[in-house]
Amino acid sequence: MRMVDLIEKKRDGKELTKEEIHHIINGYTNGDIPDYQISALTMAIYFQGMTDAERAELTMAMAASGDTIDLSEIEGIKVDKHSTGGVGDTTTLVLAPLVAAVGVPVAKMSGRGLGHTGGTIDKLESIPGFHVEIDSKQFIELVNKNKLAVIGQSGNLTPADKKLYALRDVTATVNSIPLIASSIMSKKIAAGADAIVLDVKTGAGAFMKDIEDSKTLAKAMVDIGNIVGRRTMAIISDMSQPLGYAIGNALEVKEAIDTLRGKGPKDLEELCLTLGSYMVLLAEKAVSLEEARLKLKTVIENGKAIETLKVFLEAQGGDPTVVDDQDRLPQAKYMFELEAQHDGYISEIVADAVGTAAMLLGAGRATKESKIDLAVGLVLNKKIGDKVTKGESLVTIHSNTEKIDEVREKLYESIKITASEVKPPKLIYATIE
Ligand code: URA
Ligand code: CA
Repeated sequence: MRMVDLIEKKRDGKELTKEEIHHIINGYTNGDIPDYQISALTMAIYFQGMTDAERAELTMAMAASGDTIDLSEIEGIKVDKHSTGGVGDTTTLVLAPLVAAVGVPVAKMSGRGLGHTGGTIDKLESIPGFHVEIDSKQFIELVNKNKLAVIGQSGNLTPADKKLYALRDVTATVNSIPLIASSIMSKKIAAGADAIVLDVKTGAGAFMKDIEDSKTLAKAMVDIGNIVGRRTMAIISDMSQPLGYAIGNALEVKEAIDTLRGKGPKDLEELCLTLGSYMVLLAEKAVSLEEARLKLKTVIENGKAIETLKVFLEAQGGDPTVVDDQDRLPQAKYMFELEAQHDGYISEIVADAVGTAAMLLGAGRATKESKIDLAVGLVLNKKIGDKVTKGESLVTIHSNTEKIDEVREKLYESIKITASEVKPPKLIYATIE
C-alpha cells in the first residue's frame, strides 16, 4: 500500500477501506508514515469528510494504537461519561459518586487539566492525602467493592490520537467533525467503556460555539459508538456561561459536595441528574429514564451519595472528614468582591473569559509545566437573567495575592449588565440517541 495512493483516494472523495485505515494509523504510530503525508490526508478528510464506516474504523484503529484497559473483571456494565469541556464544569465530581451510589460501576481514568482549571484529578487532590497512584489490580478491586475508583491516565493511551491531534493543531485541521469524533471516542473505548454518555457543550465557552455544529458532532459520536458496539447517547448542553457558581479546584470540590447533598446550584444539579439518568439507564440499573432519575434523587436525599463519596475518598488515601468540614480544604488568603457598576440584569457571562480570569489567579495551567494553586478561583454570585443593583457583588474572587487588577478587568469585560429583563439560557438543548 502506497500512502500517496491513499491520500489521492481520499482527496478524490472515495471511501478508504478498513485495511487502509489500519495501515495508515499503524504506520503513523510507529513512525513509518511521515507527518507531511498525514497532514495532506487530514486536509483531504477536512474537505471530503468520512463515511460512517470510515469513522468507526478510524476510531477503532486509534483505540488499538496503544494500551487498552481491560475492565472485564468488573461486574456490570461500565458506563463512562465524557464532556467536550467547559468552564467550571464540576459534573464528573458529582456524577461519579452519584451514579455509583445507585450501583453503576464507575471505573474512571482521568487526566490533569490544561486550561481554566485543573482536571478531575487535580480537583480531587485538593482533598488532603487523596491520590490516584494505584495499580490496575487495586483499581479493579476498589470498583468491585465500592463501585467507584479513579486512576491516573496511562501514558500510552491512544498514541495515534496524541500524534494526530498535535499535527492537526498546527495544520488547521482540528475543526473536522470526523476527526474530533473519532479522537474522543477512541480514548473512551481504549479506557474500557462498555457504554458512553456524552455531554457536548455549546456556546461561547465551548469548543463548538454553534448549536447545529454541536448536534452534528454529537450525532457523529453516537453513530460511531453504536457501530462499534458501545451504546452511546449524547446531550447538547449550554456553555454560554459557566456551569454552577464555582470555578477553581477546591472551590469546585465544595460545590460538588453541596450538590451531592441536594444543596448545589440548580443548573449543575439538573445537568447531573440528566446525564446521570442516561448512565443509570445504559448500565441497566433502571428500565426507564424516570426510574433512573428517581433513584438518583433518592440517594441524594437519603445521604447515600455523600456516603459513597466518603468511602471512595478514604479508599484512595483521602481525608473523608473534609466532606463535613469544608474548612479543611485549601483556602485562599484573600477574598475580594467584584461589585456591579450599575443596576440592571445580567445579560452575558462570557464563559471562556471568566475561565481565563480564574487561570490568571492560578487555578489552571497555562502550560503543561505550570503549577496549579488549588485554593484560588471564582465564585459567581449572579448568573444570566439575575437582577443586580449597583454595588452588589457579582463575583467573589478567591486569591493568594492582592494584585488582582488584571483579573478584575477581565471579569468586568466578560460580565455584561443591561437595563431590560433577560431570559436565562436553556440548559439542555437536545438529546441524541
Ligand atoms: N478533544 C479531543 O479529544 N479531540 C479532538 O479532536 C478535539 C477535542
Ligand atoms: Ca462549577
